[in-house]
Amino acid sequence: MALQRTLAMVKPDAVAAGKTGAIIAMMEAAGLKILSLRMTKLSKAQAEAFYVVHRERGFYGELCDFMSSGPIVALVLEGEDAIATWRNLMGATDSKKAGPDTVRGRYGTDVALNAVHGSDAAETSTVEISYFFPAQSLV
Ligand code: RTP
Ligand code: MG
Repeated sequence: MALQRTLAMVKPDAVAAGKTGAIIAMMEAAGLKILSLRMTKLSKAQAEAFYVVHRERGFYGELCDFMSSGPIVALVLEGEDAIATWRNLMGATDSKKAGPDTVRGRYGTDVALNAVHGSDAAETSTVEISYFFPAQSLV
């Protein structure tokens, strides 16, 4: 067990569907503490930079179009094993395979439109948090 921080995002599909508040309530109910949050809209170039690890994948263009299609809400979450805690709460990448009590199970549509993002490791979480939040903005 370790106190960790992770970057979470409510993706454009879930923001547009009015599920931001319900998803934040799930984060808090799981014991994740919100250190910072903000709404923004990614440009295509910003989405491409954020998901650059996937640039060779067939879904990269579709992913970057989706992620720049409307506002997103980015949050920094903190807690014991926050990275795994949040990814477990998110559910499987393919919303159709995600459990009924997970965010994607409740609010996702499929493997592409899947409501939320979460960092996948301590190294990536640091980079991803700095992408949205300057260090002094974390309370
Ligand atoms: P995320 O990075 O957004 O938290 O999601 P993840 O770790 O569960 O999944 P990852 O493999 O990192 O994929 C990133 C995002 O790309 C979209 N995707 N589309 N069409 C497809 O086959 C496909 N596969 C992935 C999803 O939005 C996924 O969350
Ligand atoms: Mg990922």
